[in-house]
Amino acid sequence: MLRKPILLFMLMVSASSAFSQAVSPAQQKKMDAFINNLMSKMTLDEKIGQLNQVSVGFDVTGPIVSKNVNENIEKGNVGAVLNTYTPDAVRKLQQIAVEHTRLKIPLLFGYDVIHGHKTIFPIPLGLASSWDLDMIKQTATIAAQEASADGINWVFSPMVDIARDPRWGRIAEGSGEDTWLGSQIAKAMVQGYQGDTYLNNDKVMACVKHFALYGAVEAGRDYNTVDMSERRMFQDYLPPYKAAVDAGAGSVMSSFNEINGVPASGNKWLMTDLLRKKWGFNGFVVTDYTAINEMIMHGMGETTYDVAKVALDAGIDMDMVGEAFLDNLKQLVKDGKVQPSQIDIACRRVLEAKYKLGLFADPYRYCNDERAQKTIMKPEFLEAATEAAKRSIVLLKNSNNTLPLKTTGSIALIGPLADDHRDMIGPWSGAGDWQKSVSVLEGIKKLAGNQVQINYAKGANITNDDWMIKRLGADQLNNDARPANEMIDEAVNAAKKSDIIVAVVGESYGMSGEAASRSEIGIPSAQEDLLKALKATGKPMVIILMNGRPLTLKWENDNADAMLETWFAGTEAGNAIADVLFGEYNPSAKITATFPQDVGQIPLYYSHKNTGRPYQGDFTDRYKSRYLDISNDPLYPFGFGLSYTTFTYGDVKLSSNTIKPGQLLQISTTVTNTGKYDGTEIVQLYTRQMVGSVTRPVEELKNFKKIFLKAGESQVVNFTISSADLRFYDINMKYTYEPGDFKVFVGTNSRDVKEANFKLTN
Ligand code: NOJ
Repeated sequence: MLRKPILLFMLMVSASSAFSQAVSPAQQKKMDAFINNLMSKMTLDEKIGQLNQVSVGFDVTGPIVSKNVNENIEKGNVGAVLNTYTPDAVRKLQQIAVEHTRLKIPLLFGYDVIHGHKTIFPIPLGLASSWDLDMIKQTATIAAQEASADGINWVFSPMVDIARDPRWGRIAEGSGEDTWLGSQIAKAMVQGYQGDTYLNNDKVMACVKHFALYGAVEAGRDYNTVDMSERRMFQDYLPPYKAAVDAGAGSVMSSFNEINGVPASGNKWLMTDLLRKKWGFNGFVVTDYTAINEMIMHGMGETTYDVAKVALDAGIDMDMVGEAFLDNLKQLVKDGKVQPSQIDIACRRVLEAKYKLGLFADPYRYCNDERAQKTIMKPEFLEAATEAAKRSIVLLKNSNNTLPLKTTGSIALIGPLADDHRDMIGPWSGAGDWQKSVSVLEGIKKLAGNQVQINYAKGANITNDDWMIKRLGADQLNNDARPANEMIDEAVNAAKKSDIIVAVVGESYGMSGEAASRSEIGIPSAQEDLLKALKATGKPMVIILMNGRPLTLKWENDNADAMLETWFAGTEAGNAIADVLFGEYNPSAKITATFPQDVGQIPLYYSHKNTGRPYQGDFTDRYKSRYLDISNDPLYPFGFGLSYTTFTYGDVKLSSNTIKPGQLLQISTTVTNTGKYDGTEIVQLYTRQMVGSVTRPVEELKNFKKIFLKAGESQVVNFTISSADLRFYDINMKYTYEPGDFKVFVGTNSRDVKEANFKLTN
């Protein structure tokens, strides 16, 4: 590609090529000098322009505000772009910025790279189920390689919102309900995207979102209100954001929700006192899409003039799409309502990000067509996607060892998701090319098509519900026009002539993700009717689930012989599912969000409080914390997932019954593979503080080990904990430990554990 030579900042201090993540004092000095020099030449308008992000191109998640984009870039009114990728498209816009603006300041290009860029990995809730931090990091590394080859230098990920309400469609985008695990995953993803250095152009800047507490929106309804005690915030919801910030995330995105009466995008306590002053964050904060403007609807001001001030005062640096900063900051300065120094601070943060990414030295360093062609969807990335998908698939049920299937006889492969491509890559799959995804039918044919007869029938549409069809759009659902009974009859006939049924059912990709809250979270009724008809044939039935949230699956659990939760498994879904179905891979994943029996139990999570009247199984005792019509139990508890083999746990052994602050307690147990298959087990460690200055949860995850055991093999699994692991926010909101009695639990999930006791002394 022939490029015009760019004479950047000819008279300026030269820009370094790019930054390593840990900024040395010398680098800092050089960067400061460069930016000071640049800013000394910038007009107020040009500084305000840096705080404006426009949407150009492919995806929108709200009103389309960005107009006259080229003209605006040329005027220096734009600091960043979202939704543009490919070297060519990026180059065109970058060229305007660096060849036609007065100061030639390059643009940032951000995009929603959530679970892969072109090679799509399982949705984040699926990836989390692998409990495989190295692998999760690797998926982010690959996403960064592809995205950066495709013109992008900034990704709106990781999404680290703790979510305990599966009605909220965006539970799909995060790691589930647990604070500790969510924090580990947040860190792994930031490291994967950013690496140690931007020196090579195969890394991108991460943007941790949605700051903060977005996963706790009331009633699981998107964009809704959050009202939460400070204790719960600090204890349960804030740590993953903090972990991402501590891992060096270069940017943070403000969330749509309000927090205790103040929207995040106008929340000074959140953005300045906590994020900057307490946590020491020194990157830049971008709002979510039009979130400043939305503060008018929240009731924080009457005009964009009002809310632009609220946002800047709070500590927001960049306005995503809303143009409230662009339209109002100059006037606000003229009116003496905001100080020029506030704009300087925000502008400097944005320029620093560009500097660190090496954009001043080479604005086109992420625009190389040849590299894009060589990098995107290369075979080893697809292999990694298959591996990630296999490690994310959860075996929820397997009576009489129905699975793995034999590669003989005949299979009725039924269901609207059985030969589907679009849904495989799930929600928030931005640039993913669904046409390249592998369907279950294709995966099974490839693996066993020569030995097994496959009788395929669609059997049902994902949903026939008129309301849902209108909401999602008929195109997305790709519905069959045949009457439901005709489709079911065809499927039943296929089942009757087969040895076993494999039914692939669940949600369409649009039924989870953003703006996809559901009040009922079961399998849509068109598919339930199909499952019931299939069950009536008396043939053994395996259910393969695809969905972006925990579902209510009581009937399915009672009636299926085996059940696999495959989430939306990504580009290689069909190949990974076939490997698991036929035992080429023994499933090992464990759910990281509780599956309730019924939507009425929500929020349901393992680390709940005990209450003064805990229900402990005495059915006749009415005055307990319980329901009249259902037990408190989940359908599948946090951490649950089966294997084709069985693991037994020995007693929990402790190195001592007491520890002092600073001392290590050794915890060990012997895990034995007592089944016929080699397999991987995720051994989980939980604790409970029995008495505290404030009440403590009945269980808290503290660690886990993922171990591989050959059939018949045993292994001693060791953990250590110390007083530091037992810290929490005490009655004075001090993060500390308290002496007293503790229980420690080790097990295969949060429910099936063995326990021991110890005391933390003074
Ligand atoms: C809205 C979403 O909430 C956010 O997650 C996303 O990054 C932005 N839109 C940009 O697309």
